[in-house]
Amino acid sequence: MNTVSILFIGDIFGRPGRTLVADHLRDLMDRHHLDLVIANGENAAAGFGITPRLTAELLALGIDVLTTGNHIWDRREIMEYFPQEPRLLRPANFVSGPGRGLYHGATRSGVEYAVLNLQGRVFMSQSDCPFRTADRELARIPADVRVVLVDMHAEVTSEKISMGWYLDGRVSAVVGTHTHVATADERLFPNGTAYITDVGMTGPHDGVIGMDKKAIVQKFLDGLPARFEVAERDIQMNCVLIDVDESTGRSQSISRLRFHLDS
Ligand SMILES: [Fe+2]
Ligand SMILES: [Fe+2]
Repeated sequence: MNTVSILFIGDIFGRPGRTLVADHLRDLMDRHHLDLVIANGENAAAGFGITPRLTAELLALGIDVLTTGNHIWDRREIMEYFPQEPRLLRPANFVSGPGRGLYHGATRSGVEYAVLNLQGRVFMSQSDCPFRTADRELARIPADVRVVLVDMHAEVTSEKISMGWYLDGRVSAVVGTHTHVATADERLFPNGTAYITDVGMTGPHDGVIGMDKKAIVQKFLDGLPARFEVAERDIQMNCVLIDVDESTGRSQSISRLRFHLDS
């Protein structure tokens, strides 16, 4: 049985997150014999969106596919860039906008895979049903493609867990992003789908989900408009390692991986 080793990196936040990935990804690729690296990049540009330049930079580091979420349009210049870069995804169930939510490619050793990006609807902006969108998009993937990963970018745990059960046995993994707080519920569902509610964030943790804590706490106190800056310290990388049987697409394991800038 041949195994495909996949690393999924949680939301890369601002320069601190990008620097951490730049410093450690090659080493992680060697140490874990990674075949495929996927990362959520929706906060790469100072916490708000991603630019064409940063997309190219992150892909050049060894990331194969970048998923995103609700912050994808924060930097408007990304809109016209989408047709040029199929490895940059936005949620497939957005009601409009350029780009796609599905990528189909092959690893360096020739194993075909697909990545699907979805967004939840509870406490998030309007989008089409992610469940029905998953049905539609998965039907577009050729039947011989076994290795399929889903980034379910959503706010509430119940919607993400429901997606895990809904897709159990139909995809290799459903991983959650968006809350920036890693959950400790990684597991294998009975039909072989690996699951975690949230991978967590790759960026500064000495703040509130990536931003400097002072302005955020103040906003909770007075509700007034405020300027948010990226926090600077306690930089952590949060990711999951998933091993998938390439012939069946079933996952064999999922484990959390976290390390600090200086570890
Ligand atoms: Fe995020
Ligand atoms: Fe998000």
